[in-house]
Amino acid sequence: MSTSTAGSPPKTIGLLTSGGDCAGLNAVIRAVVSRAVQGYGWRVIGIRQGTAGLLQRPLLTEKLDLSLATVNILRLGGTVLGTTNRGDPFAFPMPDGSLKDRSDEVIDGVRALGLDALIGVGGDGSFMILRRLAQQGGINLVGIPKTIDNDVGTTESSVGYHTAVTVATEALDRLQPTAASHDRVMVLEVMGRDAGHIALAAGIAGGADVILIPEIPYRMEVVAAHIDRLRRHGRNFALVIVAEAVPDLTGRQVRQRQAFGRTTYGGIGHILGEAITELTGAETRVTVLGHVQRGGQPTWDDRLVASAFGVHAVDLIGEGRFDRMVAWQNRQVVDVPLAEAMRAPQQVDPAGALVRTARGLGISLGDD
Ligand code: F6P
Repeated sequence: MSTSTAGSPPKTIGLLTSGGDCAGLNAVIRAVVSRAVQGYGWRVIGIRQGTAGLLQRPLLTEKLDLSLATVNILRLGGTVLGTTNRGDPFAFPMPDGSLKDRSDEVIDGVRALGLDALIGVGGDGSFMILRRLAQQGGINLVGIPKTIDNDVGTTESSVGYHTAVTVATEALDRLQPTAASHDRVMVLEVMGRDAGHIALAAGIAGGADVILIPEIPYRMEVVAAHIDRLRRHGRNFALVIVAEAVPDLTGRQVRQRQAFGRTTYGGIGHILGEAITELTGAETRVTVLGHVQRGGQPTWDDRLVASAFGVHAVDLIGEGRFDRMVAWQNRQVVDVPLAEAMRAPQQVDPAGALVRTARGLGISLGDD
């Protein structure tokens, strides 16, 4: 049923996905298009490659209609719009190595599209940029949180998180039998830029013996003693899950150099693996799960959250309520001021319920 106001011209809304991709983004796109086109009779313009698409001339855009909102896109990993997690338009890296403020170009792009509102699907980094652009350019912005790291404030769940935890849990399920067959310690390194949510949730669900997260400082002797204890009590294998942002034994973050002068986390698993072998004598193997956690089919709960977020974001525009982010709280979709969501990243609470669960299960967090 269309809820478009008779006589008023149909709105045009823009939609972009920004930051690292994750499973469930296409389910968001499907929900936004379905609600906006079917429910309100609006036009939806998809902006390709996040804000990078607004810096290109001609602009990288495509009209999104109901043919795209078929059930199939719901199941697809990645984002059909493409995305970028580099190239902040306020400090855009130029070929000569300098940084240039290109925010006006992005805003001109939005104006050229004649958008009444913009839906940005992103994490806290993207929201920081999009909100600044919105304030500078008078853009009516609504945010939808997505990140496998699940570190966006005020929402219990961001799109992509459940799928990443499912993949990490399945990895532990697959590592356990091979660990037991060979009497080995298996170390699984998972993602989570500065937050240990994936490691903690998957570690509990996948039966890890040790969970290391950046929010709880660890001592290697404690980890080794726990593994030794398991072995003395007859266990012939052990499972260790570590979040990529956990520092090495000297307290330094472990990073890999990437293109465009960037670095990403990666490598702590191997450092721990070697230390475990050295201290316990156990044969150890390391698996770095990496981007496997981001791709692939979204789980049912990511699809559900994505669908609820997409519909609610369009309804917010219908109500003329902007500078807000949709969020998942107490089993339902709600909305909060974007500024509140961005106030602080949501890390694991070291005294929180899930940490207590892990300790209650006898899992070592490396600290005692
Ligand atoms: O923020 C999502 C995330 O997947 C982090 O968990 C990870 O550290 C980072 O992105 C990897 O970024 P990239 O896609 O640039 O390798």
